[in-house]
Amino acid sequence: MHLLFSLSLLLALLHVTSCLLIGAFNIKQFGDKKSSNTSLIDVISTYKYIVSEPLGRSTYQEQYLFLYTEQTVSVVKNFTYDDKMDAFSREPFVVILTSTECLTYPKALNWSLVSFLSCSPAVKDFVLIPQHTSPDSAVKEVNSLFDVVTDVRARWNTNNILLMGDFNAGCSYVSGADWQQIRLFTDKSFHWLIKDDVDTTDCGHS
Ligand SMILES: *[C@@H]1O[C@H](CO)[C@@H](O)[C@H](O)[C@H]1NC(C)=O
Ligand SMILES: *[C@@H]1O[C@H](CO)[C@@H](O)[C@H](O)[C@H]1NC(C)=O
Ligand SMILES: *[C@@H]1O[C@H](CO)[C@@H](O)[C@H](O)[C@H]1NC(C)=O
Repeated sequence: MHLLFSLSLLLALLHVTSCLLIGAFNIKQFGDKKSSNTSLIDVISTYKYIVSEPLGRSTYQEQYLFLYTEQTVSVVKNFTYDDKMDAFSREPFVVILTSTECLTYPKALNWSLVSFLSCSPAVKDFVLIPQHTSPDSAVKEVNSLFDVVTDVRARWNTNNILLMGDFNAGCSYVSGADWQQIRLFTDKSFHWLIKDDVDTTDCGHS
C-alpha cells in the first residue's frame, strides 16, 4: 500500500451487528508520520482494501482508499472515471461492491456514518463514488458528479449508487445561490442523506 501521498480519502465499510455501516473521511497527509504509527496501522491492517492510483494535476496527489471487511462485502469491479472535460482535480475512483447482507435504503447516522439496515427489498450490489473536491472548484466538481453517475448507470446498469465526500460543499466554497448550478441538487431524484442543517464544516481547513 502506498502511504506517502499528501492526502487521501478513506472509506471504511464496517460491519456492526445486523447493519452495514459506511463512513467517509479525509485522513489528510497520510505520510511517514501517520504510516509509522503502529496503533493506527494495527487497526487499518485488519481490513481488506482497494486503493486508487495517485490522482492530481500536479506533483501534489491524493489517493482514494477503501477499507472493508471481507466477511461483509467484496469488490466486484472498479474504474477511474475518464475525466474528458478535466472537471476534477482528483477524478472519482469508482467501485461496485457486493454485500453478504441484504441492504435497504441507507440512512445517515450522523455526518460521517451511513447505515444500511437489513432487509427487504434486498440490494446486494452497490456502487460507491468518492470525491474529494478542490475547495476553489467545489461547485464545478460537485456538479460534475452528475456525469459520473450517468456513466455508472450506463456502465453497470444500476441505480444503487452512493456518492461520498469530502465535497467541500460549504464555507465560502459553495454558497446558497451556487446550489442552483449543481445538478445533484436540482435533480430531485437524488436524495441527500446528510441534511443541510448538520454542521459538517471545518472552514479554514480544506
Ligand atoms: C497514533 O494514532 C493514535 C490514533 O489512532 C493517536 O491517538 C496517537 O496519538 C498516535 N501516536 C502518535 C505517536 O502520533
Ligand atoms: C480494478 O479494475 C481493473 C480494470 O478492470 C482490474 O485490472 C483490477 O484487477 C481491479 N482491481 C481490483 C482490486 O479489483
Ligand atoms: C456517528 O455515529 C456512530 C454510531 O452511533 C458513533 O459511533 C460515532 O461516534 C458518531 N460520529 C460522530 C462524528 O458523531
